[in-house]
Order: sequence, then C-alpha cells, then structure tokens
Amino acid sequence: MARPSLLSLAVLSSVALLGTGAALAQPDPVTARKEGLKRMQGHLEAINPVATAGGNVREMVPRTEDMVAFFSTFPSYFPPGSDNNGSKALPSVWAERPGFEAAAANAVTAAGALRTAAASGDAAATAQAARAMGGACGACHRNYRGR
Ligand code: HEC
Repeated sequence: MARPSLLSLAVLSSVALLGTGAALAQPDPVTARKEGLKRMQGHLEAINPVATAGGNVREMVPRTEDMVAFFSTFPSYFPPGSDNNGSKALPSVWAERPGFEAAAANAVTAAGALRTAAASGDAAATAQAARAMGGACGACHRNYRGR
C-alpha cells in the first residue's frame, strides 16, 4: 500500500526541476555571501545571550558548526570581479588576497574555539569565545568591508 500518490510524484518532479534551474542559474556570489553573513550574525546574536545568562550552551553547537563550515569556504564567495550588485567589499579583498584569506582563517579558528567551548557546556568560556569570534569579524571588516 506504499505506492506514491500522483500528488507526491508531481511534488517530486517539480523539486527535481527546481534543482536543475538552480544549478543552471549559478547563484550570485554577492547575494550568497550576504545571506551567509547575516546567518552568521544571527548565530552570534543567539549564542551571546544564552552564554552570558549561563544557559545551556550545548544547544548552540549546531550554530557554531555552521560558522566553522561557512568561514572555511568564505574566500570562495569572493571570486574575482564580484564587487558588483551593491557589494560593500573593498578592493583590498582582491588586491590583498593573502591578508583577506588570513582573516578568514582566523575566523575559522575562532569559530572552532567557540564550538569547543559550547560543546563543553561551559557558559562563561562560551561567552568569552563568542567575544573573540566577534573580534575576528571586526578585524576583517576593518580592512576589507566598506561602509
Ligand atoms: C575574512 C573577512 C570577514 C570575516 C571574518 C567576517 N566578515 Fe562580515 N563581511 C566581510 C565583507 C568583505 C563584507 C561585505 C560583503 C559584501 O557586501 O559583498 C561583510 C559583510 C557583513 C555583513 C553585511 C551583510 C549584508 O547583508 O550586506 C554582516 C551582517 C557581516 N559581515 C557579519 C559578520 C559576522 C557576524 C562575522 C563574524 C562571525 C563576520 N561578518 C566575519 C568580511 C568578513
């Protein structure tokens, strides 16, 4: 009795079509990185109050994992020429690439430390690691993001 209904077949095939369209359309890197960065901001804003209130920081581990993953591939969201579409990225992102990549690597390290702290359940350590994470965001913004 587990035959798929016509409806579910229709849903499945339209999902397959959507997938093809997305692959052909090549998402704009400026939009993709802004969306990711807003998500990162959301993670920090969620983690900070829980950590400073001495809450259950273990629940924040998935957010920290998303941060590690996102910043690990961060420079790939800045291919050459992607300074269009209202981007606030400064020319230094491309002109001083090693410094930009080092700033991204520092963010990966900070996110990893945040994950370790959250996984330990130590709220005070997590609050401290979240501050350090914020420092890594700001360090990159100072040199590579315009206003
Ligand atoms: C390695 C550099 C780097 C790091 C690390 C970094 N950012 Fe950014 N961020 C940028 C750049 C460059 C832009 C501008 C992107 C653009 O407009 O194309 C930006 C833009 C943003 C924006 C604006 C997005 C929008 O919608 O315009 C937010 C929010 C943001 N960053 C949050 C964060 C947070 C939170 C962190 C740390 C958890 C962080 N960033 C770490 C480089 C960085």
